[in-house]
Amino acid sequence: MKIVKRIALLLIVAVASPGCTAFGKLDTWGVVTAGRDGWQHPDQVIETLEIELGSRVAEIGAGDGYWIARLSQAVGPQGRVYAVEVEDDKIEALERRVADEELSNVVVVRGGYDDPNLPDGEIDLAMTCLTYHHIEKRPAYFARLRVDLAPGARVAHLDDRHDAPPPFRWLQGNGHWSVPEELHAEMEEAGYRRTGAYDFLPIQSFQVFVLKEASQEPAERVELSNREEPRP
Ligand SMILES: C[S@@+](CC[C@H](N)C(=O)[O-])C[C@H]1O[C@@H](n2cnc3c(N)ncnc32)[C@H](O)[C@@H]1O
Repeated sequence: MKIVKRIALLLIVAVASPGCTAFGKLDTWGVVTAGRDGWQHPDQVIETLEIELGSRVAEIGAGDGYWIARLSQAVGPQGRVYAVEVEDDKIEALERRVADEELSNVVVVRGGYDDPNLPDGEIDLAMTCLTYHHIEKRPAYFARLRVDLAPGARVAHLDDRHDAPPPFRWLQGNGHWSVPEELHAEMEEAGYRRTGAYDFLPIQSFQVFVLKEASQEPAERVELSNREEPRP
């Protein structure tokens, strides 16, 4: 099914979007030739996250491990990446990938649905990508995460937007997206303050938070472009 979706996506993007300004920053050719990298812009995401060598980064909902080698490289040999997953097959696939790619600074963690099971006070950056909308009781989950965070830690969420442009909108599974302002409000409820909202991803929101009591940043950086009206 995944492959059918992908072929359909590539065909639709190739036929429908060239030259169409409504697609904003969507690099059609990049999507056709590079697949996910063409719209995920992983290098720009990693650069924006300003991950320091030696830092400890958790990806909650690591899935098939799209991010783990990049994160492994960003933290370097003295750093650590915690790849958190809840599903058995994903955990096995992650462990295989860590072994095959010799990612010696990546640890696969079996998370719970209400607790990522990370070491207390050890995480400098926790990120989710395409996972936020899967988590139930999100304010409680991210309030629970607070005990795992080191001083000055950040939490970053990348998630498909409710107002992603077609053809992505048509291919998103039902409910597999979030509303950026709802995500922001839920993180506020969980005790965080937004310090960045980036708009360079054509179909995802990208927001960064710190703990309210720890925040030293004077103002958040928000880049917002004109988006289509939310879905009815
Ligand atoms: C769509 S995948 C995204 C994978 C990866 N982050 C990426 O960008 O390719 C979402 C993943 O989140 C996982 N997940 C769902 N709920 C979770 C939770 N409460 N804690 C950790 N992982 C969770 C799922 O098992 C799934 O592998």
